[in-house]
Amino acid sequence: MTALLSAVDVQRFYRRGGIFRRGERLHVLKGATLEIGRGKAVGLVGRSGCGKSTLGRILLGLERPDWGSVFFKGKDISAKDGGEFAKFRKSVQVVFQNVQGSVNPRMTAGEIIGEPLRNFFGISKREAVERSRPLLEQVGLKGSDADKFPPHFSGGELQRVCIARALAPEPEVIVFDEAVSSLDMVVQARVLELVQKIRDERGLAFLFISHDLRVVAGLCDEVALMDGGVIAARERSVATLAKTGGATIARMLESLPPAGPGERAFR
Ligand SMILES: Nc1ncnc2c1ncn2[C@@H]1O[C@H](COP(=O)(O)OP(=O)(O)OP(=O)(O)O)[C@@H](O)[C@H]1O
Ligand SMILES: [Mg+2]
Repeated sequence: MTALLSAVDVQRFYRRGGIFRRGERLHVLKGATLEIGRGKAVGLVGRSGCGKSTLGRILLGLERPDWGSVFFKGKDISAKDGGEFAKFRKSVQVVFQNVQGSVNPRMTAGEIIGEPLRNFFGISKREAVERSRPLLEQVGLKGSDADKFPPHFSGGELQRVCIARALAPEPEVIVFDEAVSSLDMVVQARVLELVQKIRDERGLAFLFISHDLRVVAGLCDEVALMDGGVIAARERSVATLAKTGGATIARMLESLPPAGPGERAFR
């Protein structure tokens, strides 16, 4: 069966900044291939700066690869015309780590969640705000929170608003890029419970980019390790990856604090 969303042999170069490095190229992705099946939760791990977010942006269609392709339901997204591309963008949503930076502080939560509804369904602002209320309830907030502004939410609550915004256009895939990394442990656990609930209820596919192997272990059906600009290993669990992932994964495991009560240890 064709994957829902896949990157095939993707390469990406960036120009390095700085006066002495003009023209020097940074070869970030060197032929990365990653598939996300329907309803699957795939974890993407790897050391900082290895290119996880870059691959995420390319899968979202926010950035074009220099080589290789992204396929959505078997079709190359670069071959999609305007209407088809808009449909693709509706189907693949994202939740970023920096929640403060990804919302306009002058818009209410209802307007923030309503924005993709207006863009994709062409409804009025008022109707979009009304439709945001049940979405707020689904993410554990109150319908009346639609009238509140971002500074009046805590970090965890604002992350829920961002999750509601991602859910609003009824996507088929959500990319979470370090989406819980900036939250404290207790809030993180609650947001992860919510993510799991959404998964169970909606059968969505997830790409969960995280440097925290425990987060990925708790949530994902498969885990992919990025190393050297490619997907170096892919396994059904972090425990298996710990055995096959070589030096990079060993270092990532070493940097984890010891497993707490009720947590699985990978070593
Ligand atoms: N727009 C850009 N211009 C220039 N270089 C960039 C750009 N975006 C990313 N890079 C560089 O590409 C490399 C990969 O970055 P990326 O953000 O994808 O890594 P990452 O695996 O997500 O890291 P982290 O775990 O820290 O989030 C880094 O060296 C980064 O500095
Ligand atoms: Mg990143």
